Amino acid sequence: MVSLLGTSGPFCWCLVLVLCLNQQQEAAAAAKSDLNLKVVDGENDRWLTSTRTFWWILTVFSLLYLVYYVTKAIWAFVCWKRKANLIGKIPGPASFLVLGNLNVLFELRKYEKIISTHTLLLQTMCGLAEIYDSARIFRFWLGARPVVAFFKPETVEVLLNSNKHIDKSFDYTLLHPWLGTGLLTSCGRKWRPRRKMLTPAFHFRILEDFVPIFNEQAQIFASLLEKHVNRNPVDIVPFITNCTLDIICETAMGVKIGAQSNSESHYVRALYEVGKTFIYRVVRPWLWIPLVFLMTTKGRRFEDNLRDLHNFTRKVIQERKEEIQSETWLEGKEGLKETADIPDASHIGAKKRKAFLDLLLTEHLQKNSLSLEDIREEVDTFMFEGHDTTAMGIAWSLYLIALHQDVQDKIHDELDFIFGEDRERDLTTDDLKNMKYLECAIKEAQRLFPSVPFIGRELKEDVVVNGFTVPRGTTCFVFTYMLHRDKRTFPNPEAFIPERFLPENSIGRHPFSYVPFSAGPRNCIGQKFALMEEKLVCATILRRYQLQATHHRDHIRLKPELVIRPEEGLRVRFIDRSTSK
Ligand code: HEM
Repeated sequence: MVSLLGTSGPFCWCLVLVLCLNQQQEAAAAAKSDLNLKVVDGENDRWLTSTRTFWWILTVFSLLYLVYYVTKAIWAFVCWKRKANLIGKIPGPASFLVLGNLNVLFELRKYEKIISTHTLLLQTMCGLAEIYDSARIFRFWLGARPVVAFFKPETVEVLLNSNKHIDKSFDYTLLHPWLGTGLLTSCGRKWRPRRKMLTPAFHFRILEDFVPIFNEQAQIFASLLEKHVNRNPVDIVPFITNCTLDIICETAMGVKIGAQSNSESHYVRALYEVGKTFIYRVVRPWLWIPLVFLMTTKGRRFEDNLRDLHNFTRKVIQERKEEIQSETWLEGKEGLKETADIPDASHIGAKKRKAFLDLLLTEHLQKNSLSLEDIREEVDTFMFEGHDTTAMGIAWSLYLIALHQDVQDKIHDELDFIFGEDRERDLTTDDLKNMKYLECAIKEAQRLFPSVPFIGRELKEDVVVNGFTVPRGTTCFVFTYMLHRDKRTFPNPEAFIPERFLPENSIGRHPFSYVPFSAGPRNCIGQKFALMEEKLVCATILRRYQLQATHHRDHIRLKPELVIRPEEGLRVRFIDRSTSK
């Protein structure tokens, strides 16, 4: 019954009603003409009685139907009213009926030609966080949808440390056409077993195998800088983005796309365009409706690019699967079927370096617990989560180190202590463990410029924070950018002071005061991978070069896209260390 009254119900019901009404009218007309002919017999009477009964049943059902919908509407209104009352108690800017605070968005778009809407949006959010600093929470309305921001350690803990509030907020659904419901975008029931299955793939032992890939790509990056040495400053962001893209492609899929040597590759271009269009759509609520979006040129181009990206990943997966199967066959085993017994991942990688994909294919071939499409979702998720985030982590670190010569001197001392005069040899995992001060500098850069400035969630039940009840169903987000600027935890918050992260200075710090990789059950699965990569790439560059930043932080406009990035790049000058002494 309930499903009958479901979403398609009203249309079907109206159709049935119209058909019955028609039938009844025809029957009545036929009866009337029969009467005119004065051929009244018992059959006509029975026909009339049965259509009348049918008509009554229909009327009763229609009334029930109406009552159901009216009750549903009243209940939805009561819930919304309760939600609105509770949200109304949370501090935030004045809002309008229906429009909420969307007027701000339209206001900001007026200046689009001078300064990007994203940049202004971030500044507006920072302003609100300052205004409502004492309440430690604020709200705004996106039309009829309330959104609440959390930016104090205690409130953030309530949200992130919960096993209940693990579902992502609405905006993540805009990623579904690209990532499906992979680890990042999936909800509770699908996410839990998947997370359990994928966690071992990020074990330290497995990550160690990626160090040669990190080294190779970092060396390419360092040599690409050679032609800029002792010359004008260059924007480091595109160099680093291509480097991290090469790294994630090889570690996730086991393929070299050569983004550093050929940034015009079709795959690379499609990847950038998809990311950009996603952001374009996020700030245009009318484009959230798929049909409307697909009617635009950008929407159609997005679809084309997506098709190319998916086809690329699918092709790589299929080819690697065939390769694994034939490898096993070559080793004298019988040809494998999908569910047949196959050697474990370490064996697969014996001849060739393992990629995450090999580990996922092992699951697929051994247990059949992942379909090829599931694997495609996860590989695309790693590609999405694993390159821009690390790229900006490295870029902000190098820029801030370049800006603070005292910090740079300490890092150079540390690197010289580890490597002596040797500026070429590959780095090992032991070297990475010894780079303690560099690690502090990277962490401090991620405090000031966390790659992911907003972490969104949909509340599964009411939560009480700082005396305010945030009702179930509300979209909430952790505003990491402002959380990391809490004066109580990080005195002089705008200053770049790596020493904050020395063990002795971190004692007693609230565990949820610093969450660049999120925290709690849905934290970043790739954080160890990311830190290893960031340290290795930064160390490779800093071993060879002295860095100088030529423009001040105050002149940098921040643009929160998929990650937080500088609107006009980060310009750094490189000086060869072997000639500078
Ligand atoms: C500096 C680099 C990185 C940063 C700052 C970062 C940050 C984050 C954050 C904040 C989240 C939580 C997002 C949310 O809840 O909405 C997350 C989730 C995730 N990250 Fe990362 N990430 C980085 C690198 C990576 C890398 C290299 C990979 C993979 C190779 C990766 C894979 C993932 C995945 C799969 C998730 C979803 C986890 C889940 O929901 O269970 N990340 N990351």
